[in-house]
Amino acid sequence: MTVPLIVDVDTGIDDSLALLYLLASPEAEILSIASTAGNVSVNQVAANNLAWLDLCKATDIEVTLGAQVPLVSPLMTTEETHGPRGVGYAELPVSDRSLSNRDAATAWVELVRERPGEIVGLVTGPLTNLAQAVRIDPDLPRLLKRLVLMGGAFQHPGNTTPTSEWNIAVDPEAASEVFAAFSGLPEARLPIVCPLDITETIEMLPHHIARLAERAGSTSREIISEADASDIRSTASNAVVRHLSDAVRFYMKFHRDHDQGFLAHMHDPFAAAVALNPAIATLRTATVDIELNGTLTRGTTVADWRGMWGRPLNAAIASTTDPEAFFDDLIERIGAMAARLYP
Ligand code: BDR
Ligand code: CA
Repeated sequence: MTVPLIVDVDTGIDDSLALLYLLASPEAEILSIASTAGNVSVNQVAANNLAWLDLCKATDIEVTLGAQVPLVSPLMTTEETHGPRGVGYAELPVSDRSLSNRDAATAWVELVRERPGEIVGLVTGPLTNLAQAVRIDPDLPRLLKRLVLMGGAFQHPGNTTPTSEWNIAVDPEAASEVFAAFSGLPEARLPIVCPLDITETIEMLPHHIARLAERAGSTSREIISEADASDIRSTASNAVVRHLSDAVRFYMKFHRDHDQGFLAHMHDPFAAAVALNPAIATLRTATVDIELNGTLTRGTTVADWRGMWGRPLNAAIASTTDPEAFFDDLIERIGAMAARLYP
């Protein structure tokens, strides 16, 4: 069964792997890729999206441009985490593909109206575009089949402030509007939220890249090492492996420099896998809201697990999964695609 998707990203190293994962998945029918300002500027995000489509020799998938800035907050970007262009050390050739004539919010609205009840929305960046789309059409939550998003931190420290997660912290007002708009849906259609609590268990290690390269038939052995100097570039024979490896090496060093070990959290690819198959995670329903005013806690996601607010549910929070099963799947899918595209 195919899964028609709108994918909204702030590409981003892990967003890049989410795109590769979806492009490698025969059941994923990507209708449109929305670019959101976040990890890097929206123009750079869009350029990255087009470049990955080129590298994967993808069909003519629409890429839209989203808002330049969040709804209220000034834009923050994080080149420190994702590299100057958002793709770590990867140097992707600039694409000749063109951006869509419509903007991201318009694409969201027009697509869900064309295929009511069929489309899964996947957001792995700030929720700016989706909030704008919901302002245009408040029925959007009911026209989508389901929303899956990467964002938030509940019983887990934040990665942007002590209590807030990046995608929510960049545009807290957008997140607040989206959670409000998706309130009260039937339980099976509540947005699936993949917070840091679970995505930080998805630890990509150098041996995962080595296995992916092997599956792709890439020569020589792809070894990312903590000792690699910053001017080291992959010499893998396979172009997908080469660029992916250069992107991930940067991300692993970032995690190491922030005392998380020489690994990379694959937040967004995990959310992409959940969008294709929610059964890979256990879900726990709650009512989620965003702290907008706290002087220390702005952008924090708060979950009411016990109905204390007396408000309708608006989230099914991904709580447990099998990380190694996820990596087996990711390696098989992207490795097989890479082998097929660059034999
Ligand atoms: C999220 O923040 C971004 O930097 C990543 O791409 C991911 O979507 C994790 O907090
Ligand atoms: Ca992201």
